[in-house]
Formats: sequence, structure tokens, C-alpha cells
Amino acid sequence: MTETCRTQPFDGQRPGTSGLRKPVKTFMQPRYLENFVQSVFDCVEGLRGATLALGGDGRYYNREAIQTILRLAAGNGVARVIVGRGGLFSTPAVSALIRQRQAIGGLILSASHNPGGPAGDFGIKFNSANGGPATEALTEAIYARSRTIDRYCIAPACHIDIDTLGEQTLAGMTVEVIDPVEDYARLMESLFDFERIRGLFRGGFRMRFDAMHAITGPYAHTIFERMLGAPAGTVIHGTPLADFGGGHPDPNLTHAAELVRQLGRPEGPDFGAASDGDGDRNMIMGHGCFVTPSDSLAILAANATRVPAYRDGLRGVARSMPTSRAVDRVAHKLDIPCYETPTGWKFFGNLLDAGRITLCGEESFGTGSDHVREKDGLWAVLFWLNLLAVRGQSVAEIVNEHWLRFGRDVYTRHDYEGIDSDAAGTLMARLRDRLSTLIGQTIGRHAVSGADDFAYTDPVDGSHAAAQGVRLLLGDEARIVYRLSGTGTQGATLRLYIERLETRREYLQADAQKQLADLIALAGEIADIRGLTGRDAPDVIT
Ligand code: G6P
Ligand code: ZN
Repeated sequence: MTETCRTQPFDGQRPGTSGLRKPVKTFMQPRYLENFVQSVFDCVEGLRGATLALGGDGRYYNREAIQTILRLAAGNGVARVIVGRGGLFSTPAVSALIRQRQAIGGLILSASHNPGGPAGDFGIKFNSANGGPATEALTEAIYARSRTIDRYCIAPACHIDIDTLGEQTLAGMTVEVIDPVEDYARLMESLFDFERIRGLFRGGFRMRFDAMHAITGPYAHTIFERMLGAPAGTVIHGTPLADFGGGHPDPNLTHAAELVRQLGRPEGPDFGAASDGDGDRNMIMGHGCFVTPSDSLAILAANATRVPAYRDGLRGVARSMPTSRAVDRVAHKLDIPCYETPTGWKFFGNLLDAGRITLCGEESFGTGSDHVREKDGLWAVLFWLNLLAVRGQSVAEIVNEHWLRFGRDVYTRHDYEGIDSDAAGTLMARLRDRLSTLIGQTIGRHAVSGADDFAYTDPVDGSHAAAQGVRLLLGDEARIVYRLSGTGTQGATLRLYIERLETRREYLQADAQKQLADLIALAGEIADIRGLTGRDAPDVIT
């Protein structure tokens, strides 16, 4: 029944930080998707006879790609593919499903927060049997395979109904269409105190959740409005659209502008949150206040025992290198280990699997725990809701108390997007060359106590990752980090991360851009950002 089709390799099928992301047009070329998926299948051991999870964030080309992947799975001897109805699954839901159903892995169709639609991006990533993103070794093997591939195996063309729940057969393989929300919602209910959160809403607590016309809409309607009793209208932009309604499904102060406006009004809601294209990112806001992802991680860690799932305490925590050191201070107080990993959720996988950490997070709006092996947007929102219900305080009060106790790591990230790749390479190379000469110099009021290109050795399997970003450490107090994005699809994106510890009570509330202005200017001069990129100002500030 299965056909073997001849093919030739495409250039550039190297997965980035989070899978292969390319313009839709690139993915729609004949054989492009087939080549990549076959390369994945050729590298996954034990695929034959196994179960796979499959779904995406509903972006343009999602449904067509699912049909092709189902035929490829059948052609490669997969026994069962579990598909979300309508081809939909959030990234954390796939991670949970892989674990619940002992699948060999899952394919997630998403380019996360990158815009969708015919002129936007498409993407595909493989998650392994632990539910987490493929390791570097597997990713490299897939890329190597994509460069030599000469055939793919596929079941004959046919149309699988992915909109009706139940089982069908395709060339001997079972296709099981399930409700994408149900199991995930039950998992959340097992972690948090839903009864207490219901009480919060009964008391008139007002929340806005912006699903940004992406995957979390159906999940949020079910969990917040149906299960937790939040009034209808709590979830905005709750219908997934192929082009995300023309928006940019990235939950931050720039792209979730409407939510930010609503929370800023005097009569605005008490709590606001948003998630991205595939549902793994989160943004948390209080009435008139924004919680940085780095602070959010620290606050969740400091309050974890107030939530059922973490009642017994945390084994340890981890953060990506550019994430602020706020959580380190909490870990120190709790006397638990705190790991610093390279950017990318996959680096948390071994620590979670080995039981060394319970919570982890990144400045890039990702927070999660050992309940799955991905960051989880709705999980973070539910954690905050549980906390608000238990503490009976506002978001701003909780944040302020945290800063009073631990100090505030005032933090900002400046992004220079779509800059010339060569210029970006030169900027980083020049910084690296000067690292040793920077140590001991003074930057503003601070002395450079360390300067390096961050490298990481995984404490579990000993694997090594080098050249993960340039760090200038200004004692325990401040830090400047330069890094090139691993997720862009056009040119290069330079990210500049700046932080400084503030413990003076009267300055805790001050504006981060103002408080960091001197360090921001100096960081720009040190790297000659203007000279090398021709840019006077960043494109996005978070
Ligand atoms: C993806 C990964 C995150 C990572 C982020 C970094 O979203 O899932 O784990 O933090 O990319 O993106 P960047 O553009 O900074 O490389
Ligand atoms: Zn995402």
C-alpha cells in the first residue's frame, strides 16, 4: 500500500531553538514537508509500531500539513497517531499527551509567536518520549539526514476526517481524533485548587485572558469560563484563526496592546494574562502593573507551597542564562539548587527528568514545572490565580512584598530585529575577542567581575553547549548580556539583556528604563551597536 517516492535534499532544514521555522511559502514547496518529516522519522528509534501525537496551533497550512504527515506516518509503520480535533493541540497539551499515552513522541505544527497566514511563517517540531523538545543530538541527526535524504515513504493520497472524534484506519495505521482540551484541563485540575479559584470569581474578581486568536482560545474558554466560573467575555480573541486575525501572537507589552490598555484603565480588570501562538508562553499583569517573566518565576518559586501540586516544596529551580537572577535569590533563601542553562526549553529536560528541579523559566515569557516537559502558558496563569485566591491580595501587592523581601532585579530586554547577519556576527565576534580585557574595567558605577561567552555542561548527561551568549557580570548586583536570537526567520536579531539589583525601598517602584538608562547606554557603546547595525534604537523593548 505504501509508496516510496524519490526526492532530493533541500538546503537549510536545520531546526533552530524550537524546531524548523520557515515562511509558509517555503514549506509549501513540493516535497519540502515530506523531506523534513521523513528525516525525523528516519532518526527516531522505535517508531515502527509506536504511537505518535500530532497537532498544531491552527495557523495557515496546519490542516494540509496534518494530512500529509498522517500519510507519512502510515508509510513509516507507525501504529497509532493521536490527533487533536480540527488538527489543534497546544504545545503543552502535546507534551502531556505524549507522557500520558506513552507515545514515542509528537509532532507539533507551529512557529510559536511568529505571524501566520499565507505570508507568515509555518513550523514543525518533534518532541520526544519524555514529552520534551528533541535534544541537540537528535536535532543534529535530523538535520544531517535532511542533507542526504533520497526517498520518503508515504501512504496513498486520501482524506482523513480530523473533525470527528473517534478512530479511523489509514493503510493499517489507527488515526484517533480526540478533544484537544479535555485531558489537559483535567491535568490542570489535579495541580491547582479549582474550588478556591471558583471562590475568587464568585467574589467578583475580574480577569481578562487574551488568547490572541491562537491555540489557547478553546482551552481558556473551557478552563476559565466553564470550569472556574469566570464570566463570559473573560477570554478575548478566543477563536483560533489561520492568520491570528492579522496579529502577532506574542504575549508582551508591544503585541498584547489591547490587554495592556484594558488593565491600565481605572475601572480595568484585576488580573490580565495572555498566551502565544502555540500556548506555551505567558504574560502576567495586575491592575496597572506588569510582572516580568523573571519576577514571575521568582514569585511562583517563593510561593510554591501554597499550591496543591507543590505543597511539599521544590527540589530545585532553573532559569535560562539571560533570565534575571531574581529566582536565584529565592533558591538561596529556600536552600535549594538553582541551575543556569542556555536559552531553550530543551535544556531543562534532563534536570526535570532527573528530578533535580521542579520549577523553571525563561525571560522569553516561558514558565513551567515537572508536570510536562514544555513551558506552559495556561499553567502559569492558573498558578497565579491560585496564589491570588490563597493570598487574597492584588498582583501589585504580591510583587511589592516580594521585592521588599528579596530586592528587585530591575530588568529589561532590548531587541534589534532583522539586522544584517554579517554585522551581527561581527558584533558578537568583537565582543568575544575583548572579553579578557573587559574584566576589571568599570562600567558606570560597577566593576566588571566576570566576562565570558556562556557555556554549559549538562550535569546529568555531560553534554556541552558553547557560545550561548556574552555575559558581562558586574558583581552580584548587575549584568549585561548580548545574544543572537535562535528563532528569527529573517536576518539576525540581537538581544541585549540588562539588569540591576535595587534594594532601596523608595526606588523599588521606579521605571525600569529610567533606572537602567546608564547601563543601557554603556552596553550599546561597548558593543558599538549603532556603528555596526546602523540602528539608533531597539525595535522591541520588554
Ligand atoms: C523558543 C523556545 C524558548 C526560548 C526562545 C528563545 O521560544 O521555546 O525556550 O527561550 O525560543 O528565543 P530566541 O529568539 O531568544 O532564541
Ligand atoms: Zn510558543
